[in-house]
Amino acid sequence: VGEAGRSQDLAGRHIVVTAGGTREPIDPVRFIGNRSSGKQGVAIAAAAAARGARVTLIGANLEVPAPASVALVSVGTAEELASATQAAAKDADVVVMAAAVADYRPERLAAEKIKKEQQGDELPLRLVKNPDILVSLAQAKPAGQLLIGFAAETERDDAKLLELGRAKLARKGCDLLVVNRVGWDEGFAVDGNTVTVLDRHGDIVLETSGSKSSVAGRILDLLR
Ligand code: CTP
Ligand code: CA
Repeated sequence: VGEAGRSQDLAGRHIVVTAGGTREPIDPVRFIGNRSSGKQGVAIAAAAAARGARVTLIGANLEVPAPASVALVSVGTAEELASATQAAAKDADVVVMAAAVADYRPERLAAEKIKKEQQGDELPLRLVKNPDILVSLAQAKPAGQLLIGFAAETERDDAKLLELGRAKLARKGCDLLVVNRVGWDEGFAVDGNTVTVLDRHGDIVLETSGSKSSVAGRILDLLR
């Protein structure tokens, strides 16, 4: 489908997109983070707005600018992302969980900067699991809402990658899962992307490769 055929096909819909990577503070000056730039999620938000949707972009430490056409909510941690997303999702027609959520956060936040002199040669950091936002969105999903998850996998083998995607889909309970290979030079931060989209039965509904904005367009075509 060409750009012209898409025009304002998402008019009247509220689409919530999460993007970027959460950061979990260790002390006032340090955090645990990941390499997500937010590019793919921001490209989806921009493309949805260009096609007439009302878009809420929940951005976690975005490395790319948010388009002026979306309502931006900026968050830092996974817990902040969880509450902002749950609030925005209440009246959303579509929720796209493209953000890379930290799976664990430091159990305690040091009130002051951790000092080497007091700490010595080792710094044990105990991490605790963050809430799974996608799973709770699936459990609280309003009727008619479409919930799209992403799966970031480093698996090199295509068949095994799909297997991991199908298992993740079953655990999450979302309607579509965008399976995305990530690595040192793939997925994160770069401009291009290759994805396979599974429906809730685990069947492939889209395989596409290209710029993050072209991938965004193809994913949004699945909403029509
Ligand atoms: N996700 C989430 N909350 C978390 C972790 C992940 O909502 N605490 C969402 C992501 O935004 C993504 C999907 O779940 O849409 C899959 O994330 P991914 O990291 O690939 O899977 P995990 O379930 O965290 O499993 P693992 O990292 O161990 O592969
Ligand atoms: Ca994870």
